[in-house]
This record gives sequence, structure tokens and C-alpha cells, in this order.
Amino acid sequence: MISVTRKSHFNAAHRLNNPNWSDEKNEAFFGLCNNKNYHGHNYELDVTVTGEIDKDSGYLIDMKKLSDLIYDEIELRFDHKNLNLDTIEFKDLNPTAENIAVVIWNILRQKINPDFDLKIRLYETPRNFVEYSG
Ligand code: NI
Repeated sequence: MISVTRKSHFNAAHRLNNPNWSDEKNEAFFGLCNNKNYHGHNYELDVTVTGEIDKDSGYLIDMKKLSDLIYDEIELRFDHKNLNLDTIEFKDLNPTAENIAVVIWNILRQKINPDFDLKIRLYETPRNFVEYSG
């Protein structure tokens, strides 16, 4: 088994809030990320595909196709967007790094050969990242 990873990047705004909690509880729990007027993050995304090398091409997956897929499906959808207001995916889902990683995985999983494993690593800050692999 071999893994290849494509890195990409998007900027987006969000607000973390649970509508079932009081304003005080949301502010205490989510802190700065509860800011009513939103705030931005520079998200770094690593998409890792794992499987067997194709004997004919010597590739696992064509990196150009993987990079085009990430651009078309993730960057166009989320880059320079307010995740809460501008996207269907987070209309009713708190846009935590955890939930963003799961959403990205679900979108890409449908487009990548089912013989391959898929893992998402999403950095919300240079020091904080989450990983999801289904
Ligand atoms: Ni935040």
C-alpha cells in the first residue's frame, strides 16, 4: 500500500454557536470562535489517498486529477465564503474543524475510486489540526 497527499488551502469565515444553548453558554464554551460578527481562518487541507500502485502507469492516482478534484469540489465551494451563511453544508451544522473535515471527506469520497482509502487532515491554525478517514 502506498499513500499520496495533495495539499491545498482555502480561507473562510465562520462562527461556532449552538442555537440550543444560551448566549452566555455559547460565549463561555466557544470563546473567540463565538464572535457574533464572524472571523476568518486560513485553512490548510491535506488530502491523502492510499492504495496499490497501478502497474501500467506507476501511479497510485494522477495528482493533476486529484488537485483538480480538490479545486472543483472544495476550494470553489468554500474559499472566501462565510461557512455559516454562504454554504448549504453548514446552514444547520456547526462549522468546527471536525465537522468541516467530515464534510470534505464525504464530498471527496464520492469522487475517488472506492478501492482507495481516503484521509483528510484539516489545519484550522498552524498548530491545530483534525484528521478524518471515515
Ligand atoms: Ni474559529
